[in-house]
Amino acid sequence: MGDSVHFTELGLANTREMFKKAVNGGYAVPAYNFNNLEQLQAIVTGCAETNSPVIIQVSKGARDYADQTMLRYMAMGAVQMAQGMGAQIPICLHLDHGDSFELCKACVDSGFSSVMIDGSHLPYEENVALTKKVVEYAHGYDVSVEGELGVLAGIEDEVSAETSTYTRPEEVEDFVKKTGVDSLAISIGTSHGAYKFKLKDGEEVPELRFDILNEVERRIPGFPIVLHGASSVIPEYVQIINKYGGKMEGAVGIPEAQLRRAASGAVCKINIDSDGRLAVTAKIREYMAEHPEEFDPRKYLGYARKELIKLIKHKNEAVLGSAGRV
Ligand code: G3H
Ligand code: 13P
Ligand code: ZN
Repeated sequence: MGDSVHFTELGLANTREMFKKAVNGGYAVPAYNFNNLEQLQAIVTGCAETNSPVIIQVSKGARDYADQTMLRYMAMGAVQMAQGMGAQIPICLHLDHGDSFELCKACVDSGFSSVMIDGSHLPYEENVALTKKVVEYAHGYDVSVEGELGVLAGIEDEVSAETSTYTRPEEVEDFVKKTGVDSLAISIGTSHGAYKFKLKDGEEVPELRFDILNEVERRIPGFPIVLHGASSVIPEYVQIINKYGGKMEGAVGIPEAQLRRAASGAVCKINIDSDGRLAVTAKIREYMAEHPEEFDPRKYLGYARKELIKLIKHKNEAVLGSAGRV
């Protein structure tokens, strides 16, 4: 295998078929971020055991952390591991939040089957031009491309219509037509990380902007929509972390019922990273506190991996609805 490799040589799939089925079937394909072996083993096991299609995604930071050659073989290992478990599930290797043409090209060349070009911070026309350039290159290799319109709120932002960080539905048709993207990430009130909303005492998590999602769907019916920042920040994990010396007061995420609603409509890819991080951190903290004599990483990482498998199966079965959809 030379320096350049096509994703089909690794046994991977692009998102096209996955998304077509998800749009028609009223569910979302899970996109789980990974950086290391145990996370990937848990993703493969959880998705194989629930018979779910899956997108394994790598951020720029994860790519720097794990090394792109290592990642390529890990992805190939994931495919073969799933097959060894008797699962016929499609696995897509996706670049999460690509920030330049060069990075997207490097990923296409190194065996990724899908890339995201995130030009959402750019002025509209620049976002269009950059996204189009990535699409032209990626489609030459049958690699699918995700674009983004609208900026996800940061924790400091006031999520309100006035700040206009939400996706503007009037732009989506033009963007999709001009760029040729295969899917579109939109901003309807989710945000990255474990602190998605600053709630005062007694305040409830605000509802996502389903009105914007509906309007987007009306303008580009059947087009695959992606939801970033979609972790639920499961309170049980936050409690364990805080109990065993962590400091995560005020961590809060997107309620599962809202994600189920989004998944049953136009949203066909849901990105989850923080929930996995929380599960692993909670279980490692718990294990370390309860087994102070232990120093074999396999013990605490294995314990955390078991929880991650449980979490992934729960997401696929009860939240995204992707279980049994291959
Ligand atoms: O969208 C961001 C993902 O959660 C990846 O985060 O850049 O820390 O790897 P990261
Ligand atoms: P969370 O931080 O909510 O898990 O979002 C992850 C994400 O959107 C990765 O692109
Ligand atoms: Zn994201």
